[in-house]
Amino acid sequence: MNKLQEANVVVAGGTGGVGEGLVRAFLLEGATVIVPYRHEVRRQRLEEYIGELAEGRLHLFPAELGDEQSVAAFRSNIKEQFGSVDLGVSCIGGWYYGYSLHKMPYDHWQSVIHNNLTTHFLCMRAIVSLMHEQKRGVYVMVNGGAAEYIAPESGAVSIVAAAQLMMARVLKQEAHGTNIRIHSLVAYHPVKTRDRRREVVDDWLTPEEVGDYLTRLYRGEVPDAAKTIHRLYTRQSTHR
Ligand SMILES: NC(=O)c1ccc[n+]([C@@H]2O[C@H](COP(=O)([O-])OP(=O)(O)OC[C@H]3O[C@@H](n4cnc5c(N)ncnc54)[C@H](OP(=O)(O)O)[C@@H]3O)[C@@H](O)[C@H]2O)c1
Repeated sequence: MNKLQEANVVVAGGTGGVGEGLVRAFLLEGATVIVPYRHEVRRQRLEEYIGELAEGRLHLFPAELGDEQSVAAFRSNIKEQFGSVDLGVSCIGGWYYGYSLHKMPYDHWQSVIHNNLTTHFLCMRAIVSLMHEQKRGVYVMVNGGAAEYIAPESGAVSIVAAAQLMMARVLKQEAHGTNIRIHSLVAYHPVKTRDRRREVVDDWLTPEEVGDYLTRLYRGEVPDAAKTIHRLYTRQSTHR
C-alpha cells in the first residue's frame, strides 16, 4: 500500500509546532492520524487548529511518551483500534539553552536526555516493534540541524540529536531484509511554526511543507527515497 488515503499514521509530537503541521498535511492526504497527547490544553489546541478537516480521522490518546507503561498502553490502543501502522513519525523534543556542558547541572542533563532521547526510544520501540509484527511500515524520526551543528550553551541538544540520527541508522540496519523502511528527516532551518508568528524568513519551510515531504517520502516519490537520512533546507531546495 503506498497511498496515504488508506494509511494509519501515528504522529508522536503531533501537538507540537512542527507536529501539528504534519498532522494537517497527512489528514489532507486522506490518512487516519493517531496522536498521543499529555496535556488537555494541547489536545484542544490541535483539534481547534485542525477543525472540520479531520472528518473523524483524527484520533487523540492521552499518553506520556517518557513513561514506559503509558507508551505500552498507547501501543495496545493502536493495535486494538487500528490493527496496524503504515507510517510512524516521531516529532518529539524541545530546545535547551542554559549552560556550557562542563557547568551543566545534572538535572538539566537528565531532563534533555529524557525529553529528547528516552521519549524517542520508547516511542520507537512501541511503533517499530508493531511494524516488525506486521512485517511492513515506514518510520521517520524528525530531527533538526543540531544533529550535525554545534551551538554553545545548547550542546546537550546537539548530543541527543546526534544520538537520534544514530538510532535511525541502527534501526535501518536491524530492519535489513524486511519490508520496513526507517528514515531520519533533518530540517536544517527553523520551521515557520505558528508560534513564530512574523519572525520568519519566507524561504523557511512551513510545518505542512515538511509534512508534504514526508508524504512523498512515504510514497517513495522524493529523490533517493531509500536513503536513511533526508536533509531539508529551504523551500527552494525542497521543491527543486
Ligand atoms: N521548530 C523548528 O523550527 C524546528 C526546525 C527544525 C527541526 N525541528 C525538529 O522538529 C521536532 C519538533 O520540534 P518542535 O519545534 O515542533 O517542538 P515543540 O513545539 O516543542 O513540540 C514538541 C512535541 O514533543 C512533545 N513532547 C516533548 N517532550 C515530551 C514528553 N516527555 N512526552 C511526550 N511528549 C513530549 C510535545 O508535547 P506537548 O505538546 O505536550 O508539549 C510536542 O508535541 C524536533 O525534533 C526538532 O528538532 C524543529
